[in-house]
Amino acid sequence: MPSFVQKIQAWQQQSGRHNLPWQGTKDPYRVWLSEIMLQQTQVTTVIDYYQRFLQRFPTIADLAMASQEEVMPYWAGLGYYARARNLHHCAVTIWQDYQGEFPHSPDELIKLKGIGQSTANSIAAFCFDAKTPIMDGNVKRVFSRYYGITGYGSAIDKQLWEQAYKNVINETNIGQYNQGLMDLGSLICTRTQAKCSQCPVQKDCFAAKHNMQNSLPTKKPK
Ligand code: ADE
Ligand code: SF4
Repeated sequence: MPSFVQKIQAWQQQSGRHNLPWQGTKDPYRVWLSEIMLQQTQVTTVIDYYQRFLQRFPTIADLAMASQEEVMPYWAGLGYYARARNLHHCAVTIWQDYQGEFPHSPDELIKLKGIGQSTANSIAAFCFDAKTPIMDGNVKRVFSRYYGITGYGSAIDKQLWEQAYKNVINETNIGQYNQGLMDLGSLICTRTQAKCSQCPVQKDCFAAKHNMQNSLPTKKPK
């Protein structure tokens, strides 16, 4: 019997996204840059910014050597400008304190400015084959529906993370699984109308079984 992780992976291979510009590389600089841009900006917007940024700053050395003022124009329009300041700060730190190499472990990655638990775990899984799950808006939506997790905000964070870590025990290729969860949330288990008939985990999904796709995740009262 395939596990939840294995079903998501098989679906990712068949039907997930494969042509995003940050896919097909294990270069932590490129993966890190994409993850920071994607923290608060949608994929379609990020693509152009990502490519322009990498043309100007192709390596961590190029970014570390540049001034903050040289970096900002490449972020203009993306918003959340603290991200760009942290990004530059992080590049300088890696250049000065880490010999220009990103650390491999999530516990080290998370110490860097602008890198939280999910971003650290994503980089570690994609680049260094760590068994570390992510937790973004897409994953929260899929999990709350699939497992029937009610509530919202920080009250359910612990439950969500516990489930996330439990899922990846004894599994491999967690980078592909993480990508698959994001792809499923973006293409199938969408906010407004879940396409359950196309979903690889429909059979055991709580929301599909109880017809609760539209009441999960629990909405924050106004
Ligand atoms: N958001 C964060 N990381 C992503 C990725 N690798 N692909 C698509 N959306 C993402
Ligand atoms: Fe989402 Fe439907 Fe799949 Fe459940 S069956 S995870 S609600 S798309």
